[in-house]
Amino acid sequence: MKLKIALLAGDGIGPEVTQEAVNVLNAVAASGGHTFEYVPLLIGGAAIDAHGTPLPDETLQATLACDAALLGAVGDNKFNKLAPSERPEAGLLKIRSELGGFANLRPAVAYKALADNSPLRPEITEGADIMFVRELLGGLYFGQPRQWDKQTGRAHNTMVYTQEEVERVARIAFDIAAKRPKRKLTSVDKANVLECSQMWRFVVDQVAKDYPTVTVEHQLVDSMAIHLMNRPRDFDVVLTENLFGDILSDESGVITGSLGMLPSATLGGKVNLYEPVHGSAPDIAGQGKANPIGAILTAAMVLRFSANLEREAKIIEDAVVKVLEAGYRTSDIARGDIAGQTKVSTMEMGRLV
Ligand code: NAI
Ligand code: MG
Repeated sequence: MKLKIALLAGDGIGPEVTQEAVNVLNAVAASGGHTFEYVPLLIGGAAIDAHGTPLPDETLQATLACDAALLGAVGDNKFNKLAPSERPEAGLLKIRSELGGFANLRPAVAYKALADNSPLRPEITEGADIMFVRELLGGLYFGQPRQWDKQTGRAHNTMVYTQEEVERVARIAFDIAAKRPKRKLTSVDKANVLECSQMWRFVVDQVAKDYPTVTVEHQLVDSMAIHLMNRPRDFDVVLTENLFGDILSDESGVITGSLGMLPSATLGGKVNLYEPVHGSAPDIAGQGKANPIGAILTAAMVLRFSANLEREAKIIEDAVVKVLEAGYRTSDIARGDIAGQTKVSTMEMGRLV
């Protein structure tokens, strides 16, 4: 297997965690006879420093010529005075929209070894393993018209979806659900109030006919927010629109217990974009304190979704579990009051995995 990966390490802890993800990918390549080629590219603050813009055209074009893009994080306090359109974060938003991925996958997994890091009781989280599929390019975040009219004191946004936009993200979610052991898909909407949600539910039911092995249920978003905290184990793939997915997937970060543990993948565009959920963490950058597991699990998603190397992806995920069970902890997941934990640096954690 040959794979050309754009490396958009970015700022702060971005380069530190991305390096560990690359080391893990290289270990997979070496043991399986695969060739992973990396194309290091500037984005965010690093690109502003070198070229005066957070997303140089060269970066975008080179990324479009790769099979997958692996991003660290962008952002640095020294750019805080710049207008939003000039800041490092603008480069990330632009590359996301240029690549065109519309299905944002965010797993929320409860690790037994980290059960005490979640504010939820271990008997509630134990075994929870949810894959959120959030529609990323539609709904309120992009709908037109949108305006804050300061004269009249009235503001509006528009929730818009087309059937085609719902169908394409639903198909990705069903494809994923069909391959998971529970084969269950929960579609979340607000169909008791919103026309967009009524159409959403209609389209999901249509697509479901093509996936007879997948059990489908519909939940309303408000009660879903409670179900996720009360009985997270009952969910498998959770499919929802942009705003609801933003809120519910963040809420579900509680199940895992640390921001540094969470990976993500955005599929369906010209090139899939893979990034840990966390930001550039300037408060711990350059100190070897960053947890690289979010980035490493993101690398596993690269193998699963861009290389069809499911077995290798699973080996990485299992290795993470083993390292956690052996008690190794970066500072964000360490607890001084629990015996048997060994505090390790970013590099040590990467090497252990
Ligand atoms: P953040 O995610 O960078 O950090 C929040 C807190 O979590 C900090 O205390 C940080 O030390 C900790 N943390 C984050 N990742 C960690 C890791 N891997 N290991 C251990 N601890 C970790 O969010 P924050 O502080 O709001 O933003 C910092 C900068 O990052 C800003 O410029 C922001 O705009 C940018 N940002 C970029 C994102 C991206 O590139 N995808 C996403 C979120 C924020
Ligand atoms: Mg969010």
